Amino acid sequence: MIRLHNVSKTYTLKGRRDDNGSPRTIQALKHIDFHVPAGRIHGVIGLSGAGKSTLIRCVNLLERPTTGTVTVNGQELTALSGPALNEARHGIGMIFQHFNLLTNRTVFANVALPLELMGMPRSAIRERVTPLLELVGLDDKASQYPAQLSGGQKQRVAIARALASRPKVLLCDEATSALDPQTTASILALLRDINHKLGLTILLITHEMEVVKSICHRVSLISDGELVEEAEVGDFFTAPQTRLGRDFLNDFLKLEPPRALIDRLEDTPSRNNHPVVRLAFSGDAVSTPLISRLARECSVDVSILQAKVESIQERTLGLMIAELMGTPDKTREALDYLESHDLHVEVLGHVQRND
Ligand SMILES: Nc1ncnc2c1ncn2[C@@H]1O[C@H](COP(=O)(O)OP(=O)(O)O)[C@@H](O)[C@H]1O
Ligand SMILES: [Mg+2]
Repeated sequence: MIRLHNVSKTYTLKGRRDDNGSPRTIQALKHIDFHVPAGRIHGVIGLSGAGKSTLIRCVNLLERPTTGTVTVNGQELTALSGPALNEARHGIGMIFQHFNLLTNRTVFANVALPLELMGMPRSAIRERVTPLLELVGLDDKASQYPAQLSGGQKQRVAIARALASRPKVLLCDEATSALDPQTTASILALLRDINHKLGLTILLITHEMEVVKSICHRVSLISDGELVEEAEVGDFFTAPQTRLGRDFLNDFLKLEPPRALIDRLEDTPSRNNHPVVRLAFSGDAVSTPLISRLARECSVDVSILQAKVESIQERTLGLMIAELMGTPDKTREALDYLESHDLHVEVLGHVQRND
């Protein structure tokens, strides 16, 4: 439904020149390849300045990519301009962090605006807008002005407005970043509902793992203009493949060994130390008493330093940081045992034994 092929974007900074007198440039996106199938909710996560907004703005050509092609709903947007591009954009709705409502228009008139611009007759506009206000839970607020609404209500108006032209795709640029956690949850529930009821494909960008966890099917990680990792959300939370992915996850789970222990970790295993491991397990492994079996079958004692259970979509995910205590042979055997039982095992380092 959304396909980016080899998309790069270079901004030229006006009035700024480098030592050779050439205009200064920033390469905000580098060779992005990307596909979101119809009906999916796809998240793009990254730190501030990574290129998230540029990426999402390239999807509806609010920014024109410097190179590469963008295809939405089977239509190559990068080949279009003028009225043909405007027409194609009706198939793509967008919402923003700061809602971007017109303050001098009522809720109804804000939602009606894109339809007025399309030249739709008044009666048809009313027929379209009324059910949309019901869908977002604001049918009693039609004649109020944005200033009378809470942040969550304003975002609901923006969602109704984005849906007015019956798009197939909804783009969300940090749509919940200005909202408190409870309101965030209610807006995410609404987006999930819309995805489900209307079959809308949603591309959302965020810097918050909570957003990815609670609504996305799949996630891409962007760093310095490049897509560095992509995975189904359950897999990403179980075993991120990049350093940045692990940083995001650890930051979100707040599951890290105590600082004092990190400082004492050694890289190489030896007779005088024990491995400290991060274990992630989902599905069946959660309910199996693996840890006690480890002690029995591998003669290894397990000291649990931290543990957490998270529910991610329909999956239960267990996470643990533990020290495995035994001889090098036995701890090696224990690691093999864990891996053969579908646990994701990461050795964080080795700590001096004090027995
Ligand atoms: N209109 C612009 N002109 C020049 N540089 C820009 C413009 N928009 C974004 N940038 C730069 O591109 C990079 C990526 O920005 P952005 O896409 O906004 O990142 P994010 O949304 O992840 O914070 C940053 O270095 C930013 O300063
Ligand atoms: Mg941004």
